Amino acid sequence: MSGVKVFAPATVSNVCCGFDILGYAIHGPGDEVVATRTDKPGIHITKITGDKGKLPRETMKNTAGLAGMRLLEHLGKTDVGINMEIRKKMPFGSGMGSSAASAVAGVVAVNHLLGNPLTKWELLPFASAGEQLASGGSIHLDNVAPSLLGGMTLNRDNDTFDVHRVYLMNGLYTTLVYPHVEVLTVEAREMLSPQTSLKQMIAQTANLGGLIIGLSKGDLALIRRSLKDVIIEPQRAGLIPGFYEVQAAAMDCGVLGCSISGSGPSIFALSDNSLIAEQAGEAMQAVFTRQGIESNVYVSLINQDGAVVC
Ligand code: HSE
Repeated sequence: MSGVKVFAPATVSNVCCGFDILGYAIHGPGDEVVATRTDKPGIHITKITGDKGKLPRETMKNTAGLAGMRLLEHLGKTDVGINMEIRKKMPFGSGMGSSAASAVAGVVAVNHLLGNPLTKWELLPFASAGEQLASGGSIHLDNVAPSLLGGMTLNRDNDTFDVHRVYLMNGLYTTLVYPHVEVLTVEAREMLSPQTSLKQMIAQTANLGGLIIGLSKGDLALIRRSLKDVIIEPQRAGLIPGFYEVQAAAMDCGVLGCSISGSGPSIFALSDNSLIAEQAGEAMQAVFTRQGIESNVYVSLINQDGAVVC
């Protein structure tokens, strides 16, 4: 085989009550990596499109390049040469897991070129190494895991890559609205209080448990009661102009819940049918439009496939 093209989807992380541990993949936006063999050992980023020249071309400073190199090193294949073209097909700095998607696509492409020696699950540490580069050293798998594996994932422990697929009811739709405002993940993390009250901890863990049970049983009322974030959302809401108005607009359409996607500025909602998901997208976008803020709307079923060779 001379080359491979891999698509890795955008993701919604946190999902209200699952800060840093819960995430799901969506259809539509994502990143593509085209990898081809070359005689020159190592990974070479030959081209990046869709990034407006902002992403590093140097292999070890690029999430996809570094992730691929870590995999080559692990397999003892540093004599192998791979050219990598990265096609950004989603906004970055958007709270949609852009750096994770690049790292995932890169590592899946390298693995495929080598004849798939590792399973997708076994690729998690290498994709995570790429994502870690972009997030300033902290490891949180809530974007990498769903982009790689698909569906909704729960990372119980990052250090041991103790990651699990959450059993989901059929017909779960996601709406994602990306307003064109800047929120820096590093700043959105630094602003968080390290203190949480016992009362908040109990509410958050109860909601997380309720959400997992509700999603597995298809208990819409339980999902609706549980899709709440009493700790992180109140602290970050001010980063997104009109956040509570957008959330209210979505809830008025009948969504199951609505909150910040990752560290923002994107806002997601979950629904049990596509009409509500579409109407929510229009209503949420209208709030941004009234404020003079452009936005993109993405509506889809939860993406069960994750990264795919295409
Ligand atoms: N869970 C992370 C956060 C995702 O909310 O800070 C950001 O990549």
